[in-house]
Amino acid sequence: MELGETALVLPEQERADGSTQGSSQTASPSVVTSGKPPEPRPAGARGPQSPPPAGRAPAAAAPAKGKAPAAAIPAGIVAEAPSGGDDLFAADPLRALATLEGLVPVIDACRKCQLGHSRLHSVPGEGDPRAGLVVVGEAPGATEDETGRPFVGRAGKLLDDILKAIGFRREEVFICNVLKCRPPENRDPEPLEVTACSPYLHRQLELIGPRVILAMGRPAAHALLGVNASLGDLRGKVHRYRGIPLIVTYHPAALLRNPHWKRPTWDDVRIARRIYDGDGA
Ligand code: URA
Repeated sequence: MELGETALVLPEQERADGSTQGSSQTASPSVVTSGKPPEPRPAGARGPQSPPPAGRAPAAAAPAKGKAPAAAIPAGIVAEAPSGGDDLFAADPLRALATLEGLVPVIDACRKCQLGHSRLHSVPGEGDPRAGLVVVGEAPGATEDETGRPFVGRAGKLLDDILKAIGFRREEVFICNVLKCRPPENRDPEPLEVTACSPYLHRQLELIGPRVILAMGRPAAHALLGVNASLGDLRGKVHRYRGIPLIVTYHPAALLRNPHWKRPTWDDVRIARRIYDGDGA
């Protein structure tokens, strides 16, 4: 994944280390560019790759005249072309799912990592399937695990307030996480869990096609941008996720611990709102 960054650099901001460089009144971004533009992925779903029926050996083709007969294919080796689509190499079954709702049972049945076994409920995400703003957090917590809904605990209440402050109702946006299942004791996501779960997030974003993405916290930014930078380095810029403007800000749970980060968060989300409104990026 490529960063392909077009950056609106906010000149006066509080950095991740908490040092304040100015007030929120002057969040007037200047534009710098770096990185090469990302290649957009083609739209449209492809058929899934279906395995051949169990136990059925592939049919051997009749040898063409004048050619040596083909060697028999050992049992267990699949020689048939994948069925279900016109693209032989479209092996991603998620691409066959054309709606967000279609992803829900797939996520719920997922056992690609250990979290699928330890969680109570999967938390796929919720909101407007045609939302112009998608909010991406890290992973469900205890309340989310109990309810199957994203951001409904204390951090969720704060997220609601943040959204309200920039003129959104919760139902108007789409809210989800990198991980769809709760890590035990709310520990940090492990890289293999992120790798296993990220395709669901990518497909959700592909289906929604928002105008702007708000990544809350480092794990969300890392999963979407594929870069391992500090929050301080990631904030104050407009990144690109497959061509879609992406803003990085603090996670609401971090704001509960450090309320003085609310001011820079306010700067960030106002930029997201401006992009949503078609002003900038
Ligand atoms: N924190 C997250 O990152 N996501 C939630 O859904 C809840 C808390």
